[in-house]
Amino acid sequence: MKLKGQVAIITGAGRNIGEETAKLLASEGARIAVVDMDKGRGDKVAAQINSAGGEARGFVADLGSEADIKSLVKDVVGQWGRIDILVNNAAISDNKNILEITKEDWDKVIAVTLTGPFLMSKYVATRMVEQGSGGKIVNVGSTSGFYGRGRAIAYASAKGGIIALTRAMAVQLGPHNIRVNAAIPNKIGSPVGKDEFDPSRPVVNLRGRTGVPLDLARAVLFLVSDDSDFIVGDMLFVDGGVSSMMVGQ
Ligand SMILES: NC(=O)c1ccc[n+]([C@@H]2O[C@H](COP(=O)([O-])OP(=O)(O)OC[C@H]3O[C@@H](n4cnc5c(N)ncnc54)[C@H](O)[C@@H]3O)[C@@H](O)[C@H]2O)c1
Repeated sequence: MKLKGQVAIITGAGRNIGEETAKLLASEGARIAVVDMDKGRGDKVAAQINSAGGEARGFVADLGSEADIKSLVKDVVGQWGRIDILVNNAAISDNKNILEITKEDWDKVIAVTLTGPFLMSKYVATRMVEQGSGGKIVNVGSTSGFYGRGRAIAYASAKGGIIALTRAMAVQLGPHNIRVNAAIPNKIGSPVGKDEFDPSRPVVNLRGRTGVPLDLARAVLFLVSDDSDFIVGDMLFVDGGVSSMMVGQ
């Protein structure tokens, strides 16, 4: 087991990528704080992990609220006494272009998708530094943070911020033995904000198939385990190779 006894917080773990990541890390021995604003979803994933022989608990928090984040971190430490791993996975999208988005839409997306990971990392890293035994943080980015697209202006901007946040945190937390990296998905499972998986969703990549949440979960496991000990401040693309393709090829 690669993560025996370690305590991992995974945000937005009530479905899709976060759910699969929670289950995979639990199968490697980590105790999982399944964080979601939807109580039913988080509790269901935690119950499934427990009945499969792992250890997990659902925690309800709105990652757009600093007060919720502070009490979440306190509650997880109250539950297991420490935090070793943080996966900043929760995000929301606006799905609008710059001509139609309002400032209110923008603020909401930035609060959850960029400020949420910043605040989670700040409070969790503070705890990790106090513990004195290092830690691992993985931010889940998006190819939308690297390349222009027709919609989702606030989401793309937040994900661009995630890249800079990852690199800056890697430098600032490196001296505390906290390794920070990002995993960069493209079209994995159902789209952000949706439950349903549409098998007819058009996919252009070098693997000729849609990505599944387990593809991303495996990348996160690699980044939080000692297998990636020499990898820091990196962006691991999990996109079937689409980012390597020239438009029109
Ligand atoms: N699905 C994709 O194709 C895709 C592509 C690129 C990047 N990503 C990234 O992967 C990550 C996961 O995406 P997904 O498709 O699994 O998302 P999803 O929408 O299926 O699940 C996100 C979960 O986060 C929860 N959540 C949303 N807002 C929250 C908040 N304010 N506080 C707490 N919980 C909240 C939701 O309840 C939901 O259970 C995101 O960071 C997303 O940007 C996904």
